[in-house]
Amino acid sequence: MSPASHSLLLLIASSFFACIGSLHGSRSSAGVTTRVKLSNSGSGGGVSKVEDASDFHIYYGNAFKVIKNGIDGKSYLLVQNDSRMAGRTKYCTSRIKSFIIPMSNYSVDAAFFPVSFFELLGLLGSLKGITTDSVASQCVLKMCEAGEIAMINKSDPQQVQQFTAHFISNIDESQYCNYATFVPSSENYPLQRAEWIKYLGVFANVEARANQVYNAVKENYLCLAKLASIKSARLKPTVAWMEYNDRIWSFTKEDFVLKYVEDAGGENVDASISKMTYNTSNPDDLDQLHAILCTVDVLIDGTSIPDAGSYNLSTFLQNVAVADTSCFAFVSNQSVWRFDKRLRSATALDWYDGAVPQPQLVLADLAEAFFPTGNYTTTYFRNLAKGDGFISITADTCFRDSSTAMEPTIVPCQ
Ligand SMILES: *[C@@H]1O[C@H](CO)[C@@H](O)[C@H](O)[C@H]1NC(C)=O
Ligand SMILES: *[C@@H]1O[C@H](CO)[C@@H](O)[C@H](O)[C@H]1NC(C)=O
Ligand SMILES: *[C@@H]1O[C@H](CO)[C@@H](O)[C@H](O)[C@H]1NC(C)=O
Ligand SMILES: *[C@@H]1O[C@H](CO)[C@@H](O)[C@H](O)[C@H]1NC(C)=O
Ligand SMILES: *[C@@H]1O[C@H](CO)[C@@H](O)[C@H](O)[C@H]1NC(C)=O
Ligand SMILES: *[C@@H]1O[C@H](CO)[C@@H](O)[C@H](O)[C@H]1NC(C)=O
Ligand SMILES: *[C@@H]1O[C@H](CO)[C@@H](O)[C@H](O)[C@H]1NC(C)=O
Repeated sequence: MSPASHSLLLLIASSFFACIGSLHGSRSSAGVTTRVKLSNSGSGGGVSKVEDASDFHIYYGNAFKVIKNGIDGKSYLLVQNDSRMAGRTKYCTSRIKSFIIPMSNYSVDAAFFPVSFFELLGLLGSLKGITTDSVASQCVLKMCEAGEIAMINKSDPQQVQQFTAHFISNIDESQYCNYATFVPSSENYPLQRAEWIKYLGVFANVEARANQVYNAVKENYLCLAKLASIKSARLKPTVAWMEYNDRIWSFTKEDFVLKYVEDAGGENVDASISKMTYNTSNPDDLDQLHAILCTVDVLIDGTSIPDAGSYNLSTFLQNVAVADTSCFAFVSNQSVWRFDKRLRSATALDWYDGAVPQPQLVLADLAEAFFPTGNYTTTYFRNLAKGDGFISITADTCFRDSSTAMEPTIVPCQ
């Protein structure tokens, strides 16, 4: 181990112990004497504490912060730009990467990347490069069209290394020194995924904003979950969340999805079946599948399709290979849903973007699906049984000044 990395480890270790306490006064720890910085960005700065997420941790030193990312196994050492450490510190190893913060520019690999986290933090102004315009954000699209965000070629090393940070969500991608992995979808539960807003907040010294958004989202989510649990005490609809691929239907096993269904007051059909996949070419399988579907009140069809416009109730019924739907309560009661109501392209669904930092909106949609009031317009889900179409996301529906932060949508909850 080099002397330099040895002293860095000491620094990081000391931050674990000094942690939050050392922020409240000017003092030196482990030989680092720097003036205390609480706010650097003019928008509050502050400190974020991870409450719910399990795949990352944040530690604070005097002039630096460390994010430990449990998914890529890296420590991100974030050094304040006006500290003495900033000029001297540069790490880029398999375990430690350093960044000078606040970052004045960054780029993203936008494939399945939830850019709306940046919008909620008010950071679109420094987004300068993007790998694709297949992205489910009208305001990012508008900035792309206006030339404020440059299209970059992800296979060109020069292009992806020109900004302070390049955020990626695929940890298998080859990594340059400015790459930072952002993986909210690694978490098991909806609120844990949303809390990753704090991860991005530390890169820009906007912890206060990150905390504010997360607290508002969490409070609303918990309130809606409580409301749903009251409704479900009277009647708990049975929900099947499934997808069709290559003539096979499978019930979802994804934890965050199962959690959404429970929190919205539904019962996952998965809990009562042992076999998760059904081959529609096999008559016995098909019979079993039909029997299960006869017990289901609400069906959610998560099948990936190239063209949302051509997928309707008939398509679904064709895929379950059934002519007589008389025992399907979800058909007679018109409750067959897909999460592709808002989309830019076949792969850029807002479900993978805006829904990640704002799980309260997903919960409100599901609660409406499970306990219809007729009063609530869903955000991400459309009802195939009622012929709901999809909404195509385009630049001309961005009505916000992109340099300001987007406000989370708080759903009335009484
Ligand atoms: C540090 O970053 C802030 C915010 O971007 C900027 O205003 C300031 O000039 C930078 N300071 C130095 C020393 O680079
Ligand atoms: C992207 O960069 C790679 C490597 O430099 C190059 O081979 C490829 O042609 C570029 N693609 C486009 C669309 O420019
Ligand atoms: C991004 O910001 C860094 C640090 O402020 C600067 O050195 C670099 O030139 C900027 N990159 C671009 C492409 O503007
Ligand atoms: C589904 O069943 C058909 C007919 O039995 C069979 O040919 C096919 O391989 C099965 N598919 C899978 C993925 O098992
Ligand atoms: C579903 O779409 C197909 C073709 O895309 C069309 O022929 C059919 O009439 C539609 N069915 C319903 C119920 O809208
Ligand atoms: C249909 O929905 C209504 C209320 O939305 C409910 O009372 C009824 O039990 C449902 N019927 C079936 C068969 O699920
Ligand atoms: C629909 O909304 C109105 C006004 O917000 C409310 O008074 C009414 O109770 C709601 N109806 C249902 C069925 O929830």
